[in-house]
Amino acid sequence: MEVRKLHPLFAAELIGADVSDPQNRELIDTVEDAMREYAVLCIRGQGHINDQQQLAFARAFGPLELPPGNNAPGVKSRIAPGLYSASNLDANGEIVALESRSAKIAKGNELFHADSSFNDMPSKWSILRGVIIPPERGDTQFIDMRAVYEALPQAMKDRIADLKAEHSYAHSRRKAGADADDNLPMFKYMRAVQPMVKQSPSGRPTLFVGAHAERVIGMDEEEGTALIEELLAFAEQPQFIYSHKWQPGDIVIWDNRCTLHRGTEFDYLRYKRDMRRANVNESGEERCAIPAEALTQHYQQLSKAEAAN
Ligand code: OGA
Ligand code: MN
Repeated sequence: MEVRKLHPLFAAELIGADVSDPQNRELIDTVEDAMREYAVLCIRGQGHINDQQQLAFARAFGPLELPPGNNAPGVKSRIAPGLYSASNLDANGEIVALESRSAKIAKGNELFHADSSFNDMPSKWSILRGVIIPPERGDTQFIDMRAVYEALPQAMKDRIADLKAEHSYAHSRRKAGADADDNLPMFKYMRAVQPMVKQSPSGRPTLFVGAHAERVIGMDEEEGTALIEELLAFAEQPQFIYSHKWQPGDIVIWDNRCTLHRGTEFDYLRYKRDMRRANVNESGEERCAIPAEALTQHYQQLSKAEAAN
């Protein structure tokens, strides 16, 4: 196996790996080491991997954070229950309408974010597998937030050193143009307070702000929003971005603690894009971050048609 850097700051490709054997100690150690340093790792040529093998590979790095949607009662899914879908496909594998719930979720994914930063359950990695890839566009972009933090002016580092922000899923959906009612049962659980500066696994400090960041604790709303937007604009400068051009069979792993990512546009109504994601968490146990009761209530309140899409 060989690790080859893909960008001057971060992101690497692991060459010569086959993820179908999670007992392979050399594979697991190589991935852990590469992730600590590069924070984004691409493994190509894994088209032979199925959903269960993807889940087994993910579990080698920690317990899963289970997706709420796939586990909800009465929700039909085309993929294994432990996986998140990041596709434009319905339960039958057909392209969904632009007004559907998953199309709106996909729009939200086009804002730079860290997965599940709105959960109390601390997220470690996301492991995304490209099953069907559109022939053009639909890249995934990543930002190295350690490099972003390092490049911030000292005055800004001092200003944010002890600040915390509240992250909310409903907030990022609204930012992307979807309506999201804060009172829906699930959304009450999809908010969490996070420090704006954290220590990354490499030991380097990192900025922790993304699309889910809604307000700065202890700051008035306008000032907090302005600060979040200023930090995001700084982070989104091209020198901090690695853009991944997908091939079918690619697996890309990213560290949600020190990177942001976003999907980019493609011809949504013309091409299928089937992406499946396993999330590894740091809480020590495999579970969904949302209590089962809130899930049930949430999906009862959404119409059946909406829930299925
Ligand atoms: C995700 C995500 C972006 C993409 O799966 O968490 O944000 O390009 N995906 O599909
Ligand atoms: Mn995401």
